[in-house]
Amino acid sequence: MRSYRLEGTGGIESLVLRDEARPEPGAHEIVVRIRATSLNRRDTMILNGAYPLTPRQGVVPLSDGAGEIVAVGAAVTRFAVGDRVTGSYFARWIDGRIHAGLVDQLGCTLDGMLAEYAVLDEQWTVRLPDHLDWQEAATLTCAGLTAWNAVTGAGIPKPGQWVLVIGSGGVSLFALQFGKLLGCHVAAVTSRGEKADRLRALGADLVISTSDMPQWGAAVRDQTGGIDLVVETGGPATFTQSLIASTLYGHIVLLTLQDAKGGSIQLPAALYQRSLATISRLFVGSRTNLEAMLRAVSQHRLRPVIDKVFAFTEAGDAYRYFQQGDVFGKVIIDGA
Ligand SMILES: NC(=O)c1ccc[n+]([C@@H]2O[C@H](COP(=O)([O-])OP(=O)(O)OC[C@H]3O[C@@H](n4cnc5c(N)ncnc54)[C@H](OP(=O)(O)O)[C@@H]3O)[C@@H](O)[C@H]2O)c1
Repeated sequence: MRSYRLEGTGGIESLVLRDEARPEPGAHEIVVRIRATSLNRRDTMILNGAYPLTPRQGVVPLSDGAGEIVAVGAAVTRFAVGDRVTGSYFARWIDGRIHAGLVDQLGCTLDGMLAEYAVLDEQWTVRLPDHLDWQEAATLTCAGLTAWNAVTGAGIPKPGQWVLVIGSGGVSLFALQFGKLLGCHVAAVTSRGEKADRLRALGADLVISTSDMPQWGAAVRDQTGGIDLVVETGGPATFTQSLIASTLYGHIVLLTLQDAKGGSIQLPAALYQRSLATISRLFVGSRTNLEAMLRAVSQHRLRPVIDKVFAFTEAGDAYRYFQQGDVFGKVIIDGA
């Protein structure tokens, strides 16, 4: 079988295509024929040596992928050959709170999805909704689950309240879709005004171009009455404006602390003194969270947004395209 491996963290050159024996499952394992994978920001950070968790030398990259089971181990009880599945980001985190013993991640410390076949413990695996094609199904593990937990994990927003999403990246588009699914109003800011119509078409009730209005926080607050939940993916560039946009008891889920140049979030004390906003953090989510999200995706027949699809042999081009940043939706690498 063909399999990409990360031989170091020196950028695209570290991504190496290998020919290997087709894997056999251990007693509690399944073998999945991977039909599609997708890229997340963390995958470029891992590739470039900028991710907080050190990847295993020679690891198969990518947390997000989808495929059908072609072999099961003798002790497997949760799945059968033919089931359509994806993996859970923190593979060993089944439920409850994460702790130091559960930090292993697919595509970082554990072999991920950018291969013809993936071997997964059956406990690391979840069944996919029937209405999604392979490419759509390959987008949910990281950005999808992060957005789901940001929008549902804090107890707000309630229907009719306002959610703010920053930009049109993977997490933000899912957060927009989940916000609408929950009956909320959604505001979006984007650094590329030309994406405004596409954000509106996806359901955004208010879109502001940050290049036209760099100090957008007050305008968002005035036009919405104050944001109830911010899915803060912008980091240092947007955090202060997000705080200004928030209602008195707003909630900001802080997903990005630093920018690519090493700049860090600064808490604007004078501003925060006048606010009762809660600032919280999260790490993607558990398998139980993933199963809850997939039930909602299935129930509402939600369809992830896809920007562009690359062939398996073009994985390097897919990384390059994703890294340049001007995308709207997920970048897919088809199965081998
Ligand atoms: N803590 C966690 O569990 C967790 C999980 C997943 C992701 N994250 C973090 O969340 C962030 C987003 O992840 P992602 O996968 O969605 O990344 P992504 O797909 O690369 O999205 C980044 C988007 O942010 C927007 N943006 C960049 N600079 C901006 C600015 N100055 N003002 C407004 N928007 C700006 C851009 O959208 P426009 O072109 O529309 O401006 C860009 O497409 C990353 O920092 C990632 O590390 C954290």
